Amino acid sequence: MWFARTVFRRIVFNVLAGRRTALACAPTTAGTGSEVSPNALLFDEAAIAKKAVISPALVPDVAIVDPALMLSLPPALTATTGIDALAHCLEAYANLAAHPVIDLYALEGVRLIGAHLARAVADGSDLAARSAVALGSLYGGLCLGPVNTAGVHALAYPLGGEFHLPHGLSIALMLPHVVRFNLPALPERHAALAAALGGASAAELPDRLEQLIGACGIRMGLSAHGIPRDAFPRMADAALLITRLLKNNPRPISRADALQLYASSL
Ligand SMILES: [Fe+2]
Repeated sequence: MWFARTVFRRIVFNVLAGRRTALACAPTTAGTGSEVSPNALLFDEAAIAKKAVISPALVPDVAIVDPALMLSLPPALTATTGIDALAHCLEAYANLAAHPVIDLYALEGVRLIGAHLARAVADGSDLAARSAVALGSLYGGLCLGPVNTAGVHALAYPLGGEFHLPHGLSIALMLPHVVRFNLPALPERHAALAAALGGASAAELPDRLEQLIGACGIRMGLSAHGIPRDAFPRMADAALLITRLLKNNPRPISRADALQLYASSL
């Protein structure tokens, strides 16, 4: 925890005065990484948007990560929360603000989740698979404070904000498409991410992600989840407001790019 408190202090916006009560967190999903991150996401009903409160005061004093607490998590939630955790690691690694210490957690998190998530979805009682995914999720949480996510999360937030899709599902729907868009930037980092998922080159990364998402039983396509094409302009406008994440993305994302990415995800 020492390094997290010291490393992220220089880059996050501290909006809380502090905390007087000890905080211990025991996650019951392997997804958010909240047990070690300084991020809290709230839904602003007036703005119809998710907004972040980010502060070192939100980092728990104790994290109790026990995969036995996740054994009863249903397959669909195991799948979507696990893809969210994978995206935390992936986006922290392919990131303009990447950090060499965090790279270690990010790549290993991708490897752990990539190798075990489908198993945990298929057999929720597989404690070894649950343990690996839980560790990957913890690593993803450690990525969030010092580096944070990027374009995938920025473009996914409007799916939750306006259409109330679960966060992990929103991430899964956008992940392969935004990664495919980002591939020309940071080619060596994308190649390393592909290798962590068993691929031979950066070009294989989006396909590997689609295979994993499919193997976890997640149905792709915005239209399959009730999101119409005529919402894309509103979604693009909302996504472009999330500059705290877009500034991390390997490639700049214009409004036209955002519209194209939603269209390719339809
Ligand atoms: Fe997330």
